[in-house]
Amino acid sequence: MKKLIIAIDGFSSCGKSTFAKLIAAKLGYIFIDTGAMYRSVTLYAMEHGAIENGIVDEEKLIGMLDQIEITFRFNRLREASDVYVNGEIAENKIRTIEISNCVSAVASIRQVREKLVRMQQQMGIKRGIVMDGRDIGTVVFPDADIKLYMTADPQIRAERRYRELLEKGDTVSFDEVLSNVISRDHADMNRSISPLRKADDAIVLDNSGMTLEDEIDWFMKLFEKHQN
Ligand code: DC
Repeated sequence: MKKLIIAIDGFSSCGKSTFAKLIAAKLGYIFIDTGAMYRSVTLYAMEHGAIENGIVDEEKLIGMLDQIEITFRFNRLREASDVYVNGEIAENKIRTIEISNCVSAVASIRQVREKLVRMQQQMGIKRGIVMDGRDIGTVVFPDADIKLYMTADPQIRAERRYRELLEKGDTVSFDEVLSNVISRDHADMNRSISPLRKADDAIVLDNSGMTLEDEIDWFMKLFEKHQN
């Protein structure tokens, strides 16, 4: 069977990673959550004084980039890869509201994007990969075999993220999560480098009223067409 590159872009909290992880497992492909990479850089910056009180010191962060090593290791329990920063697991630490509030600013720095895009392209060299993010179909793999652009109503996305945070024991208000979703949409679509936009050849998947099973069924039909 032909090994494909599957690029999934879209808004935050619209279930990209859950969906991408499942289709990768179904196909026996590698799954890479590139948001986790931007979050990891943000975590390192926070822990090393390049973000203080939510303000990013760009120059300091750019000077640190060579010291940040991001790797993924497969976790059998989660059936997905955990992200590691300089050999230390970062999976839980990167999913807090503090990181979410600063990650858009970090992701808008050119040098950060250049470093992470290079790593992502390297990861796709052997194909058989599902990668999710904001610029995968437009910048990282413009020649990807299948490109999806995922979207869902902001209110529904905020509810999903809110439930996730509560389950983890985070004490956060729904309004804070909704305002974070809306402000990240704005930042992701309006930054000057690699803004979130639909690639011309991407297929839109609005999952507001869909179950995960509906999404997978829909995708498998599309995938089969690409195997011929
Ligand atoms: O998918 P996520 O919410 O975990 O992504 C975190 C942030 O990283 C998001 O605000 C936008 C940014 N990002 C990006 O700019 N490019 C990517 N390929 C992936 C994420």
